[in-house]
Amino acid sequence: MELRIEEKSCLCVLTGAGVSAESGVQTFRGQGGLWEGMLIEQIASPKGFEQTPSLLWRFYGKRRRMAKRVEPNAGHHALVEWEQRLGERFLLVTQNVDGLHQRAGSKRVIPLHGHLMETRCTKCQRVFFDENTYMEEGEGLPRCQECRGLLRPNVVWFGEMLDKHYLEEISEFMKAAGEHLVFVAAGTSGQVYPAAGLVDEVNCMRGKSWLVDVDPPEFYAGRFNHVVRGKSGEVLPKLWP
Ligand code: OAD
Repeated sequence: MELRIEEKSCLCVLTGAGVSAESGVQTFRGQGGLWEGMLIEQIASPKGFEQTPSLLWRFYGKRRRMAKRVEPNAGHHALVEWEQRLGERFLLVTQNVDGLHQRAGSKRVIPLHGHLMETRCTKCQRVFFDENTYMEEGEGLPRCQECRGLLRPNVVWFGEMLDKHYLEEISEFMKAAGEHLVFVAAGTSGQVYPAAGLVDEVNCMRGKSWLVDVDPPEFYAGRFNHVVRGKSGEVLPKLWP
C-alpha cells in the first residue's frame, strides 16, 4: 500500500511515541510503556508537580539523559524527505518532546506537547535550552537563577492548555487543504486529545487518513481509511517511496 500524493494534495503527519521507539525511546503506554501501572494523569499534571515536584523532575531527568543518547531512525528521516518534496504542502505535528524530528532535519514541525530539552521558570516564565538538569537523588529542586522561582520542564502536562497558535496553525493547514488533505498518524495510541481528534476533522472534510502502528489500537484504527500494521521505521520509508 502506498500514499497517493497528487498535485493538489497536502500532507499532514501526526507522530507519537512509537515513532521514536526504534531509536530506543520508551513509549508511554502499552507493553513496557513508561507509565505502565502509574496514574499518569495524576502525576504528570500541575497538581502532581505541586505535590511531588521531585518525582516529576526525576522522571523528566531520566528522559533527558536518554534523549541525549539516542539518534533519529529511518522513520524520522522519511518524514524529512517528504517535507523536502512537498515544502509548504507538508506539516508535521508531533506529540513527542524528544526533539528527534528536529535533529533529523524536519523544519515544518509543530511540537504540540513542548520540548524536553527546555526548562521554564514557574515564576518569571523564562524559557531556556537546558539538557543538563536531571534532579538526581539527593539534589535540591532546581531554581531560576534570575528570580529563584521553581523551574519545570517545558512540556505540556495533563490538564494544561496547548499553545493556541499551534492549534490554529494545524487548523489553517487542514482547512486550506480541504478534501485534498492526506493525513498520516504514526506511532500514537490515540488516547490524548486534541491530537487524537485530528483524524475526525480529516474525515469531516473528506480527506484521506492512514494509521501506521505496530499494534494499532482498535478504537482508534476504526476511524482511519487505511491501517498499516508495522514499525514506523520500516513502514514510513516505503509508504511514499
Ligand atoms: P503512546 O505510548 O500512548 O502510544 C504509542 C503507540 O506507538 C502505541 O499505539 C504503540 O502500539 C505504537 N508503537 C510502538 N512502537 C512502535 C513502532 N516501532 N512503530 C510504530 N508504532 C509503534 O504514545 P502517544 O500516543 O504519543 O503526552 O502518547 C500521547 C501522549 O501521551 C504523549 O505525548 C504524552 C503522553 O501523555 C504528554 O506528555 C503531554
